[in-house]
This record gives sequence, C-alpha cells and structure tokens, in this order.
Amino acid sequence: MITVIGSINMDIAVSTEQFPVQGETVFGTDFATIPGGKGANQAVAAAKLGSNTNIVGCVGNDAFGGELLKNLDKYQINTSTVQMVSNSTGIATILLYEQDNRIIVVPGANAALTKEKIDESWATIEQSKLVVLQLEIPKETVAYVIERCNEANIPILLNPAPATHFMLEWMDKVSYITPNESECEQIFQEPFEKVVEKYPNKVIVTLGSKGACYHDGERFVMVNSYQSEVIDTTGAGDTFNGALAYALTNDASLEKAIQFANCAASLSVESFGAQGGMPTITEVIIRLQQVK
Ligand code: RIB
Repeated sequence: MITVIGSINMDIAVSTEQFPVQGETVFGTDFATIPGGKGANQAVAAAKLGSNTNIVGCVGNDAFGGELLKNLDKYQINTSTVQMVSNSTGIATILLYEQDNRIIVVPGANAALTKEKIDESWATIEQSKLVVLQLEIPKETVAYVIERCNEANIPILLNPAPATHFMLEWMDKVSYITPNESECEQIFQEPFEKVVEKYPNKVIVTLGSKGACYHDGERFVMVNSYQSEVIDTTGAGDTFNGALAYALTNDASLEKAIQFANCAASLSVESFGAQGGMPTITEVIIRLQQVK
C-alpha cells in the first residue's frame, strides 16, 4: 500500500498561442477546470497502475472540494484521510503555451494540512510500504511526516516541488528524491551530474523528454525516455513519481523502476490535463514492448 500525503487542487487551465507581455491582453484558445494538485496527481498515477493507494490531504467545503473527492473515489483511492476544511479548495492556474506550462498555485485548503491531521491519519499512514510527498503542503507538516516515517521505518519518496520549500537536512531522512533539472540546480546549486554522484541511488533527476538519471554508486546511469506525441505536459512529473512508487513497491530494481516511470510519463503527455493521460498498467506494458 502507498500513501500519498499532499495537495489536491482544481486546475484552471488556459491555452494560448500568444504569451502576454507585462500589461498586455491577448486571446486564449481554450479553457478548462480539471482535477490536479501534485499530491492527487501522484495518487491517481499510482492507483491507475494498480497500487492500493491512500491520500492524506485537505479540500475546501465547496463545489471544487466535492468534485475533487468524487474524482479520487473514481480511481478507488482511499479518501477517508482527506478532510474538508473551511478554507477554499486549492487551485492552480495553468497557462499552456508552446507545448509547455506555467503554473501558479494558490494552496487554500492544502495549507490546513497540519501535524495534528497527520496524527489523526497515522493509523492509515503507518501501514504503508512507501510514503510519497511533495511540497505543496506546509513545510512543517512535511518535516513532521518525515520524522514520524523515519521512526516507523517507512521509506519516503519525496518529489521536491516547488523546490523553494525543500530543506537540505531532509536528505539523510528520505529514501528517494526526484527533482527535475531546474529544481535540482535550485536546491543543490551544483550541476545535476555532481548531485546524483553525491547521493547514489537516492537522487533521481528527471530530464523531461530525455528521461531521468541517477548514480548507482559506481557509474552515472542515464535512463532514456520514450517518444511521445505531446498534447499537454502538465502532470508528466507526477505520473513519473506515481509510477516510480508503483514499481518500487512491486520490487523493481531502481533502474527498471525509472524505465517504467519514464514510459508512464511519456504516455501521460499524449492527452489533455494532468490526470487525463495517466496510463493503466496494460498501456505501459504495451508501450514497453513496442519499443523493445
Ligand atoms: O504538477 C502539476 C500540478 O501542479 C498541477 O496539477 C497543479 O495543480 C499543480 O499542483
């Protein structure tokens, strides 16, 4: 069983062919409200692949909150550890431009995920084979989860996004950390090749369409990605993390788990929305076989 502790957002996505400069108004081409949030996305990615998944988080007692809970239920994710609070549900405004995205998150209810709420959900969390964290919830809560999981010997996969909330003292306490190239640079102030070497089998740097890399203690390992027809890259990193969690809890080696996660992420970008393209296990197996 995997437990994801993190954000649950409604994504407000706007597509445009022209990126506005300061003070300019431009026309967009599409608009949609779709379920997102790094925590929810990673939970959906793992659950869609077949993991028994819990999510611990908060949504607002509003229309978006109800809709997001229903969405998680649809993927058979255990939401008994999601609390409805008085703050409005977290939202993310996503600007889609030139096959890439720019995101502004307003945490709302996600900011209400306190240490006390972790204690209230502990009976569920402590049964996990792996706990998955990101940084769209309060930093103090992340620190508290890390301490409690360490005491209980539960491994942690930490996706350090947004990187501004990462604390270097966590490095000794997590099993895996998965920054992208810019997050890696921001956190460690060093080229990613050096960082992975410093933290063998722990730091896995995602490199977009190129794949992901790590160091196995003896050599730098580049795990290539798979070609895809890109529609929307939102949630590709979350799919990578959810799929990595799935593979690691199904006893894959780190290299195989990264290969699997790359493949899942390459499929996820072929449909619209953070969760829209997340693949099932069958879809990943087919893609893996096609490119053998
Ligand atoms: O990683 C993509 C996610 O980041 C979006 O779904 C958005 O909600 C933000 O949390």
